[in-house]
Amino acid sequence: MPHQFPVPAPRSSTLLWWQRGVLYHIYPRSFQDSNGDGVGDVQGIITRLDYLSWLGVDVLWLSPIFPSPMIDGGYDLADYCTVDPLFGDLATFVQLLEQAHRRGLKVLLDFVPNHTSDVHPWFMEARAGRTSCKREWYIWHDPAPDGGPPNNWESYFGGPAWTFDQHTGQYYLHQFDDRMPELNWRNPEVRTAMYGVMRFWLDLGVDGLRVDVPWLLIKDEQFRDNPINPDWKAGDLPWTRQIRLYSEDRPEVHEVVREMQAVIDSYAERVLIGETYLPLPRLLRYYGERLQGMHFPFNFHLILLSEWNAQAIRQAVEAYEAALPVGAWPNWVLGNHDQPRLVSRLGWQAARVATMLLLTLRGTPTWYYGDELGMQDVPIPDHLAQDPQGKRQPGFGRDPARTPMQWDDGPNAGFCLPNVEPWLPLAADSQKMNAAAEQEDARSHLSLTRALLSLRRRTPALTSGSYHTLESGSECCFVYLREQGEQHLMVALNCSVQEQVVKVPEVGQGRLLLSTYLDREGPVNLAALALRSQEGCIIEIEEFHML
Ligand code: NOJ
Repeated sequence: MPHQFPVPAPRSSTLLWWQRGVLYHIYPRSFQDSNGDGVGDVQGIITRLDYLSWLGVDVLWLSPIFPSPMIDGGYDLADYCTVDPLFGDLATFVQLLEQAHRRGLKVLLDFVPNHTSDVHPWFMEARAGRTSCKREWYIWHDPAPDGGPPNNWESYFGGPAWTFDQHTGQYYLHQFDDRMPELNWRNPEVRTAMYGVMRFWLDLGVDGLRVDVPWLLIKDEQFRDNPINPDWKAGDLPWTRQIRLYSEDRPEVHEVVREMQAVIDSYAERVLIGETYLPLPRLLRYYGERLQGMHFPFNFHLILLSEWNAQAIRQAVEAYEAALPVGAWPNWVLGNHDQPRLVSRLGWQAARVATMLLLTLRGTPTWYYGDELGMQDVPIPDHLAQDPQGKRQPGFGRDPARTPMQWDDGPNAGFCLPNVEPWLPLAADSQKMNAAAEQEDARSHLSLTRALLSLRRRTPALTSGSYHTLESGSECCFVYLREQGEQHLMVALNCSVQEQVVKVPEVGQGRLLLSTYLDREGPVNLAALALRSQEGCIIEIEEFHML
């Protein structure tokens, strides 16, 4: 019979804000400039809070706003406990918190524990000499007998993960840019300092933290060479050339994650989310034994699917639902600042179906700024490139997905003043594709996203209901039920470009609530429901027949 993987749902009243809500990821440099320097800032975000409330998201996650030489867009921190003047100051950030909270929005910050900038005072002190009091805060190693790096580890940004420090005659470790030395999480002093950083922001009223690369925090104690990936071929992601067996995801990391979660748990209702690019079983370990790990490790499997079709998506959803530890809260992500944009990956219509998928699956959805407009990757000429990953590994730059938000059809799309050059070029189509224009268009990408967010918010079956896959007779459609109490919703996604007919006569009578085409609603025949090319539908089941 049709349904599989019945997943029991907790009652909606028992869910916490980070389980009910939708996360909206802001890349602060690109959201809204308020001070005329062509770079987005905290005050700019404040001026756009009404838009975010109108859109219907619940939780804002800000990529780093801390002091930084901006080698890696702020992921290279020179100070953990204040705001970079580029983005404003601490007082303005406190205003953002207050104003967001007044509107019922939560605010999460990025927490970057794996590395600092090389101009962070801790590293400057550490490299001053081998006996420095901060020396052991970073990872140093003597050269190999031939004078080369201590082992074969490669950096994600290309080249060896070790750089020789002339002054002290040792190598230091960095798995990103050489100006981002890695902290030594085996040193208790580092842990104490970093948990202090977490408390600083939590005391200020921040609602939670997104942890950057937590699976990298602990490395092999013996610094063994990583095996070479025998399947790697030219054109594959350069950082998959090695199997990163010894440089990351070591078992001892889970102790650190538990400790971080304990800091979070010492405050009321805060959340800890981890960035985790890992295969499913290893990813799920970050929930921790007896769920003492993080609230949720990001689930990027929809982004990483090698093919976008109904069977591949179904498999990803079912595998995740089936493997989730009992009591663990699921989550889904469709885009972020490290990945090509949703529309650029999938195309227009498929992106609309993906949006319906994200906002109707069980678990917390994470949304990337601008995807609600259908923003696309913007080609960045070499001389304007900013991203160190792309500069070292041509073709793998992340700037195209980080361009300024397209607010209106004015010069610079309302992102910054007309006479100012934005830090990255705007999309050529920003005159047409922008928030103001799409607000006026009842069938726009923005209208669809907002309608889905609104439906999700007012429909307990979607926010907290159970999940069952349905067999629909069409290989090209992914069909599932979300149920809560007396409420039964069916989601039917045609992931192909041909028309398809979904047949689920046994389910009951249906009433169409929302199509990705935004042009129809009302009673539908579930014995033969025709879906147009790349159409997704949400159908309320009336007179539900028990499956
Ligand atoms: C993950 C972040 O998402 C990415 O943007 C950054 O380059 C690396 N971590 C290093 O911090």
